[in-house]
Amino acid sequence: MAARAVIVLAAGQGTRMRSSLPKVLHKVGARAMIDWSLALAQAFGADRRIVVVGPHAPQVRAHLEAGANPPEIAVQQEPLGTAHAVLAAKEAIAGFEGDVVVLYGDTPLIKPETLQAMADVRAAKGGIVVLGFEADNPTGYGRLIQDEQGRIARIVEEKDASEAEKAVRLCNSGVFLTDAKLLMQLLSMVGNDNAKKEYYLTDIVGLGRSAGFFTHQVACPETEVLGVNSRLELAQAEAVFQSRARREAMLSGVTMIDPNTVYFSYDTALEPDVTLEPHVFFGPGVSVATGAQIKAHCHLEGAKVGPGVQLGPFARLRPGADLRAQVKIGNFVEVKNAVFHEKAQASHLTYVGDADVGARANLGCGTITCNYDGFDKHRTVIGEGAFIGSDTALVAPVTIGAGVITGAGSVITKDVEADALVVSRSPQKAIPGWSKAFRDRKIAERAQKGKP
Ligand code: UD1
Ligand code: CA
Repeated sequence: MAARAVIVLAAGQGTRMRSSLPKVLHKVGARAMIDWSLALAQAFGADRRIVVVGPHAPQVRAHLEAGANPPEIAVQQEPLGTAHAVLAAKEAIAGFEGDVVVLYGDTPLIKPETLQAMADVRAAKGGIVVLGFEADNPTGYGRLIQDEQGRIARIVEEKDASEAEKAVRLCNSGVFLTDAKLLMQLLSMVGNDNAKKEYYLTDIVGLGRSAGFFTHQVACPETEVLGVNSRLELAQAEAVFQSRARREAMLSGVTMIDPNTVYFSYDTALEPDVTLEPHVFFGPGVSVATGAQIKAHCHLEGAKVGPGVQLGPFARLRPGADLRAQVKIGNFVEVKNAVFHEKAQASHLTYVGDADVGARANLGCGTITCNYDGFDKHRTVIGEGAFIGSDTALVAPVTIGAGVITGAGSVITKDVEADALVVSRSPQKAIPGWSKAFRDRKIAERAQKGKP
């Protein structure tokens, strides 16, 4: 197999987003669009990944450099067109031998198998491979113009197209795959004698043809090459991602009562036989093991849900929540940076943060770990089988031994040894007849003032 490089163009301004955040850092499925392109490159087995950025995008550069596996970065000093942008990677790619794919930082939905289909065509037929699609409305796209044999002869941009060419619905996605040396050679011949006075990458098709290299087309659905220019298209891309994720989840064995109300992130990992009720939101970094049931209206991010867990309705799992097998977390319970060991439970109205909850421990309604003193976070440790009475405040750092029972309404500030009962509240006092006397007095007062 030929070595593979990917060049991702991301030097455009993205002004139509009307955002202080560069366009390619906007997210689809909780992942920045530029990272979708880089992940695609990786899935395609790219040996080299080069991102072409503009000179005024420090945020993009910082984002790329902070990634786990940062790509190479090339700078296009002026936005003189897509051919000019690819040429910005010329130095970086010099000496590379193999295939190169041109991708875009604002086109997050292309599938790895589509690039593979392009690579297969190139391996079989050589030349240039372009990714095309049949557009519902081709306005604005470059058109793939075929010759009498049905081969791609050239690409004509909307602004340079004749009326007959504008009627063509077969469009250019912008994605090309060809040999690195051939690409750079053809790019050096591209001029800017066109309506936009830009250096068009698309000109390599006609130039290649004149030099004896044919261009072959691989087609994909229009949704796959949806490019994001505005927030409207960002929402459209999100919708495509969500419907794919829902479909994949169901095909892999997840039951969803109303899939259209469940939202996924790019890395949501669900095992077979998970059941999801309506209106569940998965932020990034969530895994759910087999047999777990997530009831309606739960919000999860950065959380591990173990086998057979019952979650919700209306539960919130924040980063670091780690629910082991058979744990039960009920309504209006928030868990953050806390482990619930096997069969532990918190069924109602509870906050558990920075804690370790032992196996089979039961947190009563209204339990609160007071983990934050305004400056630092502190841990709460609850032993196996402990029973935390309703409305207990656990003021961290504090350790509750195994098998402890806490009296309802207690505020626990000191460690408690195993198997103890701990109660901390003012003793109960009852004054016989007081309430009746109080009521009688108030009613008499009102009657004197003539009020009903
Ligand atoms: C381009 C294609 C068109 C195709 C369409 C698909 C050309 C000449 N035209 O048109 O055939 O149908 O994409 O969406 O290639 N960019 C840079 N530097 C530049 C110019 C562009 O990095 O100097 C990047 C932009 O960030 C953008 C992408 O390249 O992501 C496409 O550029 P754009 O100017 O939007 O091209 P289109 O006119 O949409
Ligand atoms: Ca565009």
